[in-house]
Amino acid sequence: MKARIAGTGSYAPTRVLTNADLEGMVATSDEWIRERTGIRERRIAATGEACSDLAVQAGKRALAAAGVAASDLDMILVATCTGDFPLPATACLVQHQLGAMKAGACDLSAACCGFVYALSVADAYIKTGMRHVLVIGSEVMSAITDWTDRNTCVLFGDGAGAVVLSASDGERGILSTDLRSDGTLCELIMVPGGGSRTPPSEKVLAERLHYIKMKGNETFKVAVRTLEDIARATLAANHVEVEDLDLYIPHQANVRILKAVMERLGLPMEKVLLNLDRYGNTSAASIPIALDEAVREGRIKDGSLVMLGAFGAGLTWASAMIRW
Ligand code: UT7
Repeated sequence: MKARIAGTGSYAPTRVLTNADLEGMVATSDEWIRERTGIRERRIAATGEACSDLAVQAGKRALAAAGVAASDLDMILVATCTGDFPLPATACLVQHQLGAMKAGACDLSAACCGFVYALSVADAYIKTGMRHVLVIGSEVMSAITDWTDRNTCVLFGDGAGAVVLSASDGERGILSTDLRSDGTLCELIMVPGGGSRTPPSEKVLAERLHYIKMKGNETFKVAVRTLEDIARATLAANHVEVEDLDLYIPHQANVRILKAVMERLGLPMEKVLLNLDRYGNTSAASIPIALDEAVREGRIKDGSLVMLGAFGAGLTWASAMIRW
């Protein structure tokens, strides 16, 4: 039994925030952002538009593409670090909006790796008897972004992507997943305030501890190393060479990170899906948005060999190999 991706969907808020717009907010330039990151613009949720709103739109599109009714879902997993509320889980709000009457629902927190982690969980659910699982990566990063901090505010964006995984006989589906972590590096990317360690308070607000902080330069180096290592491990586990890949879909954080990894792997950039110029870093949403674009643009066809690779806060890193 394999978990096959039966349909994909994505949704991005309509408001576009360009690098030129950011020039009016912090001491930065379009040139710096493009050269250092590859990002040109990102989408920003409207006031009152929350994580579940984006997730529901992406989820509906994935269900329509799969031809699966919400009422047939066994489980809904939402990977996010920007849920509507600390509790309940955003997945429960999605379950209600979709009318998925017999589905369980919970969130998964693994930052930018959240979607690949959730895919791995869903794969295990299907192998142990579930028929249809909806996996969504959805983020409103703008809600945890400090719009006065040029080190981070130029990087992130909002959006959601989703896949329906269905039980299937045959060779097509998720071939393997690989999940890693190193909590000694937890301070590289962190929202230090607002949780049980430092609950919400006037001090948290005044010191802006409820916003994302990142040691970008150190993260960059670890990202290159971990993405290369896990890609090699995943290729070896599936007994395939890098030349056998039809498409590599990485977490969309920084085009310079990806170019460095591809050079080390010997994978030409034409086989790498890049859309961060239009969305920035949408954390757990970045891979499923890119996956949906690749499917809709015909870059993934039946039989394609597709590898996913992610890294992010935790630190965590993860990969998946899929026969489409
Ligand atoms: O998905 C989560 C994982 N996170 C990531 O993947 C992020 C990984 N890191 C990165 O993508 C890069 O480290 C950044 C894009 C965040 C930064 O690029 P960098 O080449 O590592 O720059 P840097 O942090 O070493 O900073 C270089 C200079 C500094 O100025 P000085 O000290 O050399 O005078 C910064 O203050 O660039 C300055 N700088 C900026 N200048 C204009 C930092 N941010 C900006 C900015 N605009 N927005």
